[in-house]
Amino acid sequence: MIISGKELSTRLKQEMAVEVATFPERFGRVPHLAVILVGEDPASQTYVRNKGLAAEKIGLRSSTIRLAESTTEEELLNLISALNSDESVDGILVQLPVPRHISEQKVLEAIDRAKDVDGFHPLNMADLWRYRKSPVEDKAIQDEIPPFTLPCTPKGVIRMLKAAGVEISGKHAVVLGRSNIVGLPVAKLLLNEDATVTICHSRTRDLASITASADILIAAIGKPRFVTADMVKEGAAVIDVGIDRDPVTGSLCGDVDFENLKDRCSVISPVPGGVGPMTICCLMENTIEAFLRKFSPQL
Ligand code: GUN
Repeated sequence: MIISGKELSTRLKQEMAVEVATFPERFGRVPHLAVILVGEDPASQTYVRNKGLAAEKIGLRSSTIRLAESTTEEELLNLISALNSDESVDGILVQLPVPRHISEQKVLEAIDRAKDVDGFHPLNMADLWRYRKSPVEDKAIQDEIPPFTLPCTPKGVIRMLKAAGVEISGKHAVVLGRSNIVGLPVAKLLLNEDATVTICHSRTRDLASITASADILIAAIGKPRFVTADMVKEGAAVIDVGIDRDPVTGSLCGDVDFENLKDRCSVISPVPGGVGPMTICCLMENTIEAFLRKFSPQL
């Protein structure tokens, strides 16, 4: 089974649009996402454009603030501070990477944690590590919203597994990659779903024998088609987080050798059309959740 993040995200965004349409009457307005892009990196420009389009499509208000590459750290921090104090803004996202003369850490710490829709603020990251319940359900906008923001890509990965009917509890989940954005948080979310989790990375010995014992394999290492058929158990569920370029053709591909794996796996996600659309979908959900927490002080 090929799990299409594109189709799943379309369905979830439709659910969100229905919910958002009720907000003006219930709360007097719709959620507002502010996205900041510093510089002109082409990939970042595409991501930012897609985030704005997705927001508008589901009825959210979206503002995109484009700043010159030469913007100083102080100027960016001042802008974030102004957006933090702006009552009309519910979510703030600074597209990464920021130019080298700006500290990413300072920027992420400057965003009000309640408006941090990426889930990258240190307090949101810390909360993920102490929160023990399963925070992700198989639908957009849960009845019980987690009290902090989950990072978008890991949240999307769990959604995809659940939507595909993959049983996570008690299974051996192997995560390839240990980044703060994907590898580490997805490992914690899998642990919250009661999987037994192994995290592998560039120094892991005998990697192929570990991946071959995985019931669930999450590839997030950024190496084109790194995961080959011999590394994967028959019937495994494989989610590919990679957005890579084929070194020969230059075409978009993932961390997984999709063509040679697809008949071996019970579930596999494609690139493109897999995790990417789910990340944007979860960003929309995080914006709505940040808005709803404002109106529900107990959260
Ligand atoms: N750059 C690449 N992925 C992301 C993401 O998920 N959030 C932000 N803010 N920047 C990114």
